[in-house]
Amino acid sequence: MSFREFVQAIRADGQLLTIADEVDPCLEMAALFHGLGERPTLLERVKGSRYPVVAGVCSSRELLALGLGVSRDQVLFVLSEALHTPVPPATATSAPCQEIVEETFDLADLPILTHLPGDGGPYVTAGVAIVKDPELGPNMCFHRLMRLDGRRLSGRLVERRGTHMALQKAGGELDIAICIGCSPAVLLAAAMSPAPGVDELSIANALSPTPLVRCRTVDLQVPAESEFVLEGRITRQMVREGPFLDLTGTMDIVRDQPVIEISCVTHRRDALYQALLPGGQEHKLLMGMPREPTIYREVSKVCDCVNVLLTPGGASWLHGVVQIRKQDPDAGKRAIEAAFRGHTSLKHVLIVDHDIDIYNPSDLEWAIATRVQADRDVVVLTDQPSSSLDPSARHRPGVKSRTAKMGLDATIPWRKPSGAMRTEAERAAFAKIEYSTVELDQYNQERSVHA
Ligand SMILES: Cc1cc2nc3c(=O)[nH]c(=O)nc-3n(C[C@H](O)[C@H](O)[C@H](O)COP(=O)(O)O)c2cc1C
Repeated sequence: MSFREFVQAIRADGQLLTIADEVDPCLEMAALFHGLGERPTLLERVKGSRYPVVAGVCSSRELLALGLGVSRDQVLFVLSEALHTPVPPATATSAPCQEIVEETFDLADLPILTHLPGDGGPYVTAGVAIVKDPELGPNMCFHRLMRLDGRRLSGRLVERRGTHMALQKAGGELDIAICIGCSPAVLLAAAMSPAPGVDELSIANALSPTPLVRCRTVDLQVPAESEFVLEGRITRQMVREGPFLDLTGTMDIVRDQPVIEISCVTHRRDALYQALLPGGQEHKLLMGMPREPTIYREVSKVCDCVNVLLTPGGASWLHGVVQIRKQDPDAGKRAIEAAFRGHTSLKHVLIVDHDIDIYNPSDLEWAIATRVQADRDVVVLTDQPSSSLDPSARHRPGVKSRTAKMGLDATIPWRKPSGAMRTEAERAAFAKIEYSTVELDQYNQERSVHA
């Protein structure tokens, strides 16, 4: 399903809000999307641009599931399958993204949002960049992009990730194509980090057919159904990039990042521009959901893994919940170690049994309250490799950040404090007792009021 088909599916489902009033992409639009709780919204009239803006379409698991054509609980397994059995994409027979080809253009014509008063400039936030690694082939990755002027952007290229490594191997300059308005399959695949040499476009294509077309001015292939494609080159020139709001909801620092010179803009005739709020639900879900299958895979190697969730309170990146079907006393501890292997940026992980609703924070807390003894069930690891996104970690320029990590085994303890094994009946006593349900409608209910 292409981006516009996705928007149409959300509309058909009655979930798309359309606003016809003119909205200014400079500060007003981001505040409006935030005020609307990031619900899927189409802004038809944009101040200073002829292109409508869509935001909020990836703001819940249910919406992304709709975009993949599966149920919420199937998404983990569908992503896992695509990650491990990619399918090379076909060449497109038509290229909607090249209906209009502009070599004379001004990036100021695009409705690029300025999100907050302190930002370094207007930023593209839903841009998926495609480059070619000289050794490994195509790499696809999100990059936030600050508009510098009518033909130049600066991109945040996180060190040691695909684009950055390809740029280094290429000697400091590299062709790039930036796609805006991508299908849910492309958006989710772009945030994956598969094994070296596995092309994320093939993962996207395994999720949903993603035919490719050759760019007009650079030797790269892009999803033919993108709304916009900005073709250009990453240069050796560096500029100050930022400040900009990060995934954790804190302000990221200003750094020297490369200038990207755009040579050509292609787009659909009636192109839709996609925006997403930095630090918002969409940013978190698109970052976190593609890591859940890698955790699932590692934990499944050491015990029976049922489900995985990177929770929004932990920025869908630093905190995870792993649900297991426990079959031996030590499965919880093994799951902790495996979860950290499955997502190296994970800082805190909670392991729960299959009777816990992992989407319900109160249920998770209940498991901690009734099943954890801190001196037995907490694993603390010191001086571990850290996410660069955690403000509380130790950061040094050019060196991998370091952090402490914690795993909490909140599964039913199979051993008693004495070390003896609990019987099955004793373990069953840890279950939450549910009241029976009644048909409330069969009772005449009256509220009594005391004078
Ligand atoms: C909305 C969004 C914005 C992102 N912005 C950036 C960014 O500015 N720079 C970056 O290097 N990674 C960014 N990422 C993370 C990368 O897309 C992600 O780490 C990706 O898996 C890296 O893949 P690679 O290691 O194959 O290149 C962003 C992810 C999302 C979902």
